[in-house]
Amino acid sequence: MLEAGDPELIAALLQARPTLRVIVICPARSCAVAQAAVAAGAWDVCYLPVDPLALRQIVARAFNVHALHAAASAAAGGGEEAGGDSGVITAAPEMTQVLRTVSRIARTDVSVLLSGASGTGKELLALHLHAASPRAKGAFVAINCAAIPDTLLESELFGHEKGAFTGAIRTMPGKIEQAAGGTLFLDEIGDVPLPLQVKLLRFLQEHAIERIGGRRPILVDTRIVCATHRDIDQMVADGQFREDLYYRLAQIVVAIPPLAKRPGDALLLARHFVAKFAPVMNPAVRGLAADAIAAIDAHDWPGNVRELENRIKRAIIMADARLITSADLDLVKGAERPTSLRAAREAADRGAIRRALARTEGNISQTARLLGVSRPTLYDLLKSYDLHA
Ligand SMILES: Nc1ncnc2c1ncn2[C@@H]1O[C@H](COP(=O)(O)OP(=O)(O)OP(=O)(O)O)[C@@H](O)[C@H]1O
Ligand SMILES: [Mg+2]
Repeated sequence: MLEAGDPELIAALLQARPTLRVIVICPARSCAVAQAAVAAGAWDVCYLPVDPLALRQIVARAFNVHALHAAASAAAGGGEEAGGDSGVITAAPEMTQVLRTVSRIARTDVSVLLSGASGTGKELLALHLHAASPRAKGAFVAINCAAIPDTLLESELFGHEKGAFTGAIRTMPGKIEQAAGGTLFLDEIGDVPLPLQVKLLRFLQEHAIERIGGRRPILVDTRIVCATHRDIDQMVADGQFREDLYYRLAQIVVAIPPLAKRPGDALLLARHFVAKFAPVMNPAVRGLAADAIAAIDAHDWPGNVRELENRIKRAIIMADARLITSADLDLVKGAERPTSLRAAREAADRGAIRRALARTEGNISQTARLLGVSRPTLYDLLKSYDLHA
């Protein structure tokens, strides 16, 4: 339960644990806070001063629906759901094979690199691996190496001692320590700068880290799972990624197929997302119209599951009938000019981001600077518009 829900925090929580039910307590009359929280996926909202009876009902309903969902997904052939709660949905043999591999690897301590295009479910699979591993009771900590400025990444990963640098007002353990006994998910591993790669390699070899400003090594038992959408073999060949680190990190490489190569999954996932988000975002919506189903089948999903999830969420909000149409999904063939203000704004955003990316040849830092936004904001925009650097 969160007070004055921060949409980004809610989204991050739900990404880490998709079955979590987030209940937000809002200041009275703060409609904007409530709307933003619900749009980010909050399960329910209650206002200050809290009515204990109402709150009890909300919590009871959350437990109830959670239990029903868990029972439904177990009945839907949860055989592949070795991790129980990790929520990977698939019926395609290409993906069930990947799940089986991940479940098998989970029992061992070998290092794993998940490789796949943006939005294919790398983070979800990392979570699945953790949940299916003997470390399931430990923490699952995720860090996106591309979203953190190089200068901060070392401190984020390894932590620092009080006084190690200006602003280090207290000792902070890094993510590697926070994940002790559990799993650390290093996302976009290809973005770790070379000097830090050396330090990471030492951790993998010696299972010991040194905080910035620290004087002694600290033994840490953390399993590393990493992911990238880049061609890391090419980076090794070009000298941008250390070969010795690559072999330490990627004892096994699991390639996650794009959604287009998983026949039937787009529709299965679309139905899943409607069932998951409609009750919270627009309870009038009950399913997909025939033209939406045809459009989902025909689309090639360059942004994979993330694109599908975003389109379904948007469609749920836009739909004015019980069934989502292909127009709600914005998947009408040869779509004409956007009519709503929202669509026009989005088209303008997309254009500006594309042009900036082209000008900087895909350099994220320069693109962010050009657009006058922070790198994390740019990443969020790229994700929500299904654009690629
Ligand atoms: N098989 C699946 N079943 C259910 N949900 C899925 C599945 N695959 C992905 N998702 C959902 O799609 C979204 C994107 O997945 P995830 O973040 O794991 O992908 P990613 O490969 O890490 O993407 P990115 O490269 O954009 O970081 C998440 O909300 C995730 O929960
Ligand atoms: Mg990811």
